[in-house]
Amino acid sequence: MNPAELRIDGPRLWARLEALGELGAVHGPNGERGCARLALTDADRDGRDLVVRWMYDLGLAVTIDAIGNVVATRLGTDPAAAPVMVGSHIDTVRTGGRFDGNLGVLAGLELIETLAQHGIATHHPISVALFTNEEGARFQPDMLGSLVYVGGMLLEDALDVRAADDGARLGDELGRIGYAGPTPCPAAAAPHAYFELHIEQGPVLEDEGITIGAVTGVQGISWTELTISGQSAHAGTTPMRLRRDPGYVAAAINTGVRALAIEMGCTQVATVGRCDFHPNLVNVVPATVTMTVDLRNTDELLLQQSETVFAALCDQLAAEEGVTIERRTLARFEPVEFDAAMIDLVETTAIRLGHSTRRMPSGAGHDAQMLGRVCPTSMVFVPSTNGLSHNIAEYTAPHEITAGADVLLQVVLATAVPC
Ligand code: GLV
Ligand code: MN
Ligand code: MN
Repeated sequence: MNPAELRIDGPRLWARLEALGELGAVHGPNGERGCARLALTDADRDGRDLVVRWMYDLGLAVTIDAIGNVVATRLGTDPAAAPVMVGSHIDTVRTGGRFDGNLGVLAGLELIETLAQHGIATHHPISVALFTNEEGARFQPDMLGSLVYVGGMLLEDALDVRAADDGARLGDELGRIGYAGPTPCPAAAAPHAYFELHIEQGPVLEDEGITIGAVTGVQGISWTELTISGQSAHAGTTPMRLRRDPGYVAAAINTGVRALAIEMGCTQVATVGRCDFHPNLVNVVPATVTMTVDLRNTDELLLQQSETVFAALCDQLAAEEGVTIERRTLARFEPVEFDAAMIDLVETTAIRLGHSTRRMPSGAGHDAQMLGRVCPTSMVFVPSTNGLSHNIAEYTAPHEITAGADVLLQVVLATAVPC
């Protein structure tokens, strides 16, 4: 068969997505089927075990590195050639879907199975990677496994990261679930190229009726944890003018960062996703509040501007209310531009396969933004129904999944060179 006409088996890929989605499954009241597979929990281990079994079933050479990244490789005809890598993650947020990350990993297995079935060899090896803790929901920063993989964070520092909720140490959790592997990390050599198929996680493709996004880059991310300390006091006896209330300050920061994003306009976004009151009681002015602020922009200077305004807001509120605010950076990544030739390849391949396509930046963080530091990289996006992600209602229709995986197959084939 002419390799350019090769297509993946859509139902087979969908079946794997369904099977993996059962591990850590959460069900909503309206038939939603999501996933809670936080990084390095038992559910993550179960998901990894299943994917690794599929990797072995396909006859791939599987390595697990010191930060728990799993890489499965199909050999090429040139033993000296670097692999074309595809991949993503299988950890989810606590209220996640069955597609975010999982799709990129399972589409990689599917394309390898398709090549094997049709007896097509490639000059370059093809690797499928499953990176540790992409979400950053349990351990920060996000994209931690791929960051260490490319040498952007010291392995020892990554292993010492503590979970936001229960304080567990990442390295201990990795060992506990059996994924502290023997392969050194960072990787000894860079891939030849990296491609990641992912759901868009936003509303643009669906809104415009477009099937494939050729991703041009990823916006910058700035995550800060604030600890606001004031004076815990009786809610009935303490006059408003004499309060030092961290709860009030937290609320003002939440409305303040929303206002700053709206004032800046363009692509600036701002989110308070976590906010914990202590002691969290109806009749007690809180003693402390810990909260997170997520700022993102496609433009580094504008992102810095938003950080400056946010810091000034914190200082002003602290002085006005008589509280202290400690700021801790949880993650900070500059915007990333993908490789021009790889973006072109995704776009022209989508058009050749008959799909409507547009170029677009990614609003979400991805392992691809780390791999882009060491090799030519781009991503393929498929639509998200109602623009929803990080939500158990996350959904992408089977024909869209198949379209994206076919584009992935063809860009990988073009780069790995069939022979
Ligand atoms: C990861 O999914 C992020 O963009 O927060
Ligand atoms: Mn993802
Ligand atoms: Mn995600």
